[in-house]
Amino acid sequence: MFDIPFLDLPPLRGASGTVRLPGSKSISNRVLLLAALAEGETLVHEPLASDDTQVMLDALRALGCEVQPAESRAGGSALRIGGLGGRLRTHEAALFLGNAGTAMRPLTAALALLAATQGGRFELSGVPRMHERPIGDLVEALRALGCDIVDLGQPGYPPLRVQGQAGGRLRTQAPIPVRGDVSSQFLSALLLALPLVSEAQDIVIEVQGELISKPYVHITLKLLARFGIEVAHEQWRRFTVPRGSRYRSPGAIHVEGDASSASYFIALGAIAAHGGAPLRIEGVGSDSIQGDIRFVDAAQAMGARVQAGPGWLQVSRGAWPLQALTLDCNHIPDAAMTLAVMALYAEGTTRLTNIASWRVKETDRIAAMATELRKLGAAVTEGPDFIEVTPPARWQPATIHTYDDHRMAMCASLAAFNALAGRPASDGPGLPVRILDPRCVGKTFPDYFETLFGVVSADAQDVPVITVDGPTASGKGTLAAALAARLGYHTLDSGSLYRTTALAALQDGIAPDDEAALARLAALLDLRFEGAAVMLRGRPVSDELRREDVGSLASRIAALPAVREALHSLQLAFRRPPGLVADGRDMGTVVFPDAALKVFLTASAAQRASRRHKQLISKGIQANITDLRADLEARDARDRTRSIAPLKPAEDALALDNSALSVDESVDVVLGWWQQRRPFD
Ligand code: DC
Repeated sequence: MFDIPFLDLPPLRGASGTVRLPGSKSISNRVLLLAALAEGETLVHEPLASDDTQVMLDALRALGCEVQPAESRAGGSALRIGGLGGRLRTHEAALFLGNAGTAMRPLTAALALLAATQGGRFELSGVPRMHERPIGDLVEALRALGCDIVDLGQPGYPPLRVQGQAGGRLRTQAPIPVRGDVSSQFLSALLLALPLVSEAQDIVIEVQGELISKPYVHITLKLLARFGIEVAHEQWRRFTVPRGSRYRSPGAIHVEGDASSASYFIALGAIAAHGGAPLRIEGVGSDSIQGDIRFVDAAQAMGARVQAGPGWLQVSRGAWPLQALTLDCNHIPDAAMTLAVMALYAEGTTRLTNIASWRVKETDRIAAMATELRKLGAAVTEGPDFIEVTPPARWQPATIHTYDDHRMAMCASLAAFNALAGRPASDGPGLPVRILDPRCVGKTFPDYFETLFGVVSADAQDVPVITVDGPTASGKGTLAAALAARLGYHTLDSGSLYRTTALAALQDGIAPDDEAALARLAALLDLRFEGAAVMLRGRPVSDELRREDVGSLASRIAALPAVREALHSLQLAFRRPPGLVADGRDMGTVVFPDAALKVFLTASAAQRASRRHKQLISKGIQANITDLRADLEARDARDRTRSIAPLKPAEDALALDNSALSVDESVDVVLGWWQQRRPFD
């Protein structure tokens, strides 16, 4: 998860491999609620783990439900939910539901009915945007039934309180009217909740206005059926919850991958899986119950080549450029956003209609999409319920606002393929794209960017590198790690490669001057990085690498040309999207001479000796500051005077003496330099 203020995507050019989708948000939250209302235990396989499902789980726990992590069949994740059997265990709770419409609407309905019949007081609230998302039509329907609902803010919007006395009676005889043309979630919420109070007679819901987003209601009906409740409907206008309905746990239920999340990778395949194997998407396929799977048809109409089977899709580029499209998107409201971005790569103007619901989602998505696509250079026309996109005549480097909307962030990532736009080959110049607040993807797809970076390719020269070179104990590693953390970039601690070679040489008893043997060792190093840990030959060695004898030997063997050569290509391989911060001695001079920013870090020998001393003491290692300083200076001399790749600032390096600076201050200085070199406003 990229919990950083912004993420810069370098120009991207290709896509291949396999992605495994996270579980569907819509299915996960419906299943979790149904499992909580049902009698008995339900094992939910592969539920989505995200902000929206977390708030649902927190709410269910607050209501007295038992939620336990469990093992899933294929080694994936699962949750064991102990159902309430339709009986309230807690009669008072304040539930915070973030920005999750799929939690707010059905929980409001269920708790209103439960409070009205069993007694209770429940407050439901969310983030400020949740308090701007309408719920009045649902509240009216529930009030018509006899539920007591108090507006705690603006009438018609959360926050709300639902309350009632035990033994209350509801007016379930007459058909319940509910609006269907603002959000289908009002109908879904009623359908999910009404079986709680339908023991005595059938309950009929009548939809007022044209029902939008029918596929989501279809999911609701399918899942109700899995929990033993067969709702009949006449042309999506009149729904009947049959008398005597009771939620019965299916025992175990599997959550399929999220079809809306699939849309980004379907688009990715259509744009960037060219000249090789298709991009494979696992988790949804031809057997999906989610309406957004129909995005496949729209993508195909724009030029995607798609194969589908149960639980999988394979997508590659068909027509290029893509074909513009005019489409009524009522049936794929969420995935349709992805079409607006595919339109950047199409010939002609794409017109997406019947998307008024975009305006009441996580943000006003029509306005947001229009504003952000224009920044990229596209011509965009928006109307109350449509958007028209014509690709940029000239692309611009853009800073994309995401409006705390996961889909805006995921859509924006597809703009990073601008080097491919309008060209038969992938060799045009490209522009980076800056995505603000990338963390917002956590709503439905916390690992979206990691997953994306796992299947995309870039030209090495497009992937930005920041180099931090300097003498030993100057704080390079700390600075580099902090910069990488702020930018979401990879790190290369090149010293650790020399140290690991030295440690392996000590283990194998190789003489410090046996250049050929040391080079062979370096070339075949069985080395892996697992997070911050360095694994040599399958064992974590991070602590051993910091030993003084290892550092000393590293400095000696680093003077051997064959060893440096052997480690060269290994270092280049660290240059992967979104970017790299590399620290060492020759990062800016030899390994990444084209780095976008080169920092040469210095600090006085006294400062460095004292830092190293503190470091060792804090680890409980005895050390003498005078010896440390002598050793440091000897090592500096060796690094500086060696004939190959000597330690010296690159000509275009910026010097930073951090003797008197804290780590945060140094980071701020370098980030300031970095901002100046980026093409964004
Ligand atoms: O940065 P460090 O102390 O972990 O590096 C260990 C040794 O490796 C150092 O004495 C010099 C050598 N080194 C190098 O020659 N070139 C690099 N890019 C990084 C380290």
